Formats: sequence, C-alpha cells, structure tokens
Amino acid sequence: MRARHDYAEPFKIKTVEPIHLPSRQTRAARIEEAGFNVFNLQSEDVYIDLLTDSGTTAMSTQQWAAMIKGDESYAGSRSYKALSAAVADVMGFPYVLPTHQGRGAEHILMTMKVQPDDRIPGNMHFDTTEGHIRLRGAHPINLLAEEGYQRASTHPFKGNIDLDQLAAELSKNRERIPLVLMTITCNNNGGQPVSLANLRAAAEIAHAAEVPIFLDAARFAENAYFIQTREPGYENHDLRTIARECFSLVDGCTFSAKKDGLVNIGGLLAFWDIKAFEEAIQWQIPFEGFITYGGLAGRDLEAIAVGLREVINPAYLENRIGQVHRLASRLYEAGVPVIMPPGGHGVFIDAGEFFPHLPPEQFPGQAFVVELYLEGAIRAVELGSAAFGRRDPTTGEHIAPRMEMVRLAIPRRVYTDRHLEQVAQAVERVYQRRSDIQGFDMIKEAPVLRHFTAQYRRREDD
Ligand SMILES: Cc1ncc(COP(=O)(O)O)c(C=O)c1O
Repeated sequence: MRARHDYAEPFKIKTVEPIHLPSRQTRAARIEEAGFNVFNLQSEDVYIDLLTDSGTTAMSTQQWAAMIKGDESYAGSRSYKALSAAVADVMGFPYVLPTHQGRGAEHILMTMKVQPDDRIPGNMHFDTTEGHIRLRGAHPINLLAEEGYQRASTHPFKGNIDLDQLAAELSKNRERIPLVLMTITCNNNGGQPVSLANLRAAAEIAHAAEVPIFLDAARFAENAYFIQTREPGYENHDLRTIARECFSLVDGCTFSAKKDGLVNIGGLLAFWDIKAFEEAIQWQIPFEGFITYGGLAGRDLEAIAVGLREVINPAYLENRIGQVHRLASRLYEAGVPVIMPPGGHGVFIDAGEFFPHLPPEQFPGQAFVVELYLEGAIRAVELGSAAFGRRDPTTGEHIAPRMEMVRLAIPRRVYTDRHLEQVAQAVERVYQRRSDIQGFDMIKEAPVLRHFTAQYRRREDD
C-alpha cells in the first residue's frame, strides 16, 4: 500500500516537550543498570520512545479545550452525555460504559460472560484479553488465518480469522463458547487489519450458532482506513461509514481509548442491547465506578469524545498510516526483515531473521532492543520469546512462540519524519553489525507477564 498523497502533517505544533540524546557512555551505563530491560529505563534517558502507541498520543487544542468543560459530578455528569453522543455518532452504539482503560472493559465483559473451562475464539487476542480469559479459568483460542503468521505474505488483511476453523470450533464446542472476540487491528501480529468481508462472515457464523460476537476495537479507525484503501468496493465509502458498518455487524465492543481515542487514559464498553448494558452495569459499579464516570475524571470523558471524532478524519489517518508506512518501506529497502505491508501502529521486525545466529532461548528480540538503545537511545519493545515464550514447568526448557518480533510502535501525532529518519539510520547501523551481536540469558523472571520485569545477562559476559 502507498500513502495516497504526500502531504505533510495536518497539524502544526503548539506545545513542545524537550528531548535529548544521552551520550553513548551514559546509554551503556543506563541499560546495564536496567538489567538490560528497557522497561526499567527512565524516560529522560530515552531520545525517541517507540515502546508503545498506547496512551502516548499528543492531544489536540480542541481536546485540551474540552477538558476544562469536564463535569466532575459523581452521577449524571454532562461529560458522560458528551461521550455517549460521540460514541453514537462515530461507532453507532446507543449504550456505553466508560472504563479506566481497555482492560477495565475486558474485565467487565469476561466476568459477565465467561465461566471456567469456556473457550473464547478470536483472530488473535491481545495479552490483557488473554489474561482476563485465563483469570476466569477459560481458554483463549487464536484462530488467525495462516497468512497472518507469514512475515513475507503480502495478503492485504493479515488480521483475518480462519473462518473454517471458527465454524469448526463453534460446531464442536458450542456449549463452552459464550462469545467470539475479533481484535481490529490485530496488535499481536503487527497491527494487521481485518477485512469487512471477513468480519461479516465471522459474525454470520457466530450468530448462526447464537453466540454473540464482540470487537476489541482499540484501533478501529486504522482498520477502517485499511478497508477503505485495500478492500475492493470500499474506496468511495467514507471512513465513518466503514467504521459504523464494522460495529453494526457485532453485539458490542471493548475499546482502549489510549489508541484510537487519541487520549492518554480511558476506555469503554459499548452495546446495542439494553439488557446486556444493564447486566454490565452490575459489574461496572464495583470494578470501575458509577455508570457516568467509570474510573475516569469528567475531563477525560470530554477528551475521548473529541478524540473519537478527530481519529476518523481522513487527513489524520492518511498521515498517521503514511508515516508508519514510510518508516517500514525505508527499512525494507535497506534489507531489514520488516513485516510488509506494515500494519497501522508500528513497524514490526522479525528478530529471528535479523539475527539468524541467535536461537530463541538467546532472546534475539531482546538483543535487538538493547542494541537499538545503545545505538541511538531509541526504545522499542520485544514481542517474541521474552514476551510470549515460557518455560516448561517440569523441565525448565524454553518454549518459543511462533514469531520472534520487535515492535517500533509509533505514538500518534508525536514524532516527525525527521525523528523517524534517526530511527531508520540507527536500525540500519545495528543491521550492518548484526553478526557481531550476542544474545542474552534471562536471569530473573516473574511467573506471569515476565518481560515487564525480567533481568538479563549478555552471553559474551560468560
Ligand atoms: C488490541 C488491544 N486490546 C486491548 C488493549 C488493552 O488496553 P489498555 O492498555 O487500555 O488496558 C490493548 C493495549 O495495548 C490492545 O492493543
């Protein structure tokens, strides 16, 4: 896919936050003090921070202006009305519950619907979703279509679910499936989109079995952009119409507003059906707070309401996705093994291919992330053996995931192409000396979500 126009950013910059490049010596000291885990770095020691696109957005003047209107009443807040109106306008849903962030909505939905030993099929669940499914004693079932696992596949919708497998799962285990969940875009395999045709077919299969289907809609606007630019028949549909069509096919959604809500904190859970909404309220109140604030300040609700309308703007999306695409293409042309076509929110590098001499138990993604920090004080995130691998509980042996990825997540409206040029140059320098780079041993790890707090030792130190 190519960006259709080559316009500059559709905004000018009003507030700036200074950043600086620490010296190579300081970088070497900081990463060692951090146990070679970039989650332990202080943000002031990072020059360009591509750890995540979640909650790192720069808000607009309209959002900041709306925040002052925040109605901080416990019940019946005007700001809840503003949020509900924006959700109805952009997504269509008439019933909405705010939550402190996306996982708050997942907590309510999974508590409402899921019993021990249930099975929750989806294209590929995000980590926190998997966590909430497992916390209910149930099983996340990822049915991503095969091309979604192939880095080299040029399929335009690598987030699609395998429809045959979904139908088979529903016919075999119908009694144990309380819902189907589709993640748009699919974060864990590179922010890859789901087509409307695939979503429609998945909804038909679920509904034929009388099972509700929900969207994890964290990046619904980016997904709508991909449908408009890649799915035949949608090129002349506007983005809001496409987004509304996606939501019209399902029974409700969870949403992390920290992505396509263009805010730093917040989430929501939305439904078409008043009965489901009323049932959710029973969990909303103890978990998140009263219906009209849900773990957020009134001002946060106002910022999300404006963000939802801004995110669906074509000039914004074209610039955002164009920026990701430019960085991915630049690296691809330099020979770096990136997922192409890139997804919407970041550039994903196959660290296994980048370092063919490092086996999964030497954490190639981790080696990349550390070298990128040393090279340019740039922070990326490992999404491979450290994040998704585990140890066999009896033998202690390393069990590797299917993909050994590193993500360069691009915050929304934060960095210019000049920043990303610095990133590209640093990645290229690491690529040129890749055969000299050693792997790591994990020397300290927590039993769950170990990559956040793990400590490492470089193998050359042995
Ligand atoms: C696809 C997806 N779903 C859910 C979440 C969880 O959202 P939050 O971080 O707001 O709790 C994320 C966060 O990164 C995500 O990418």
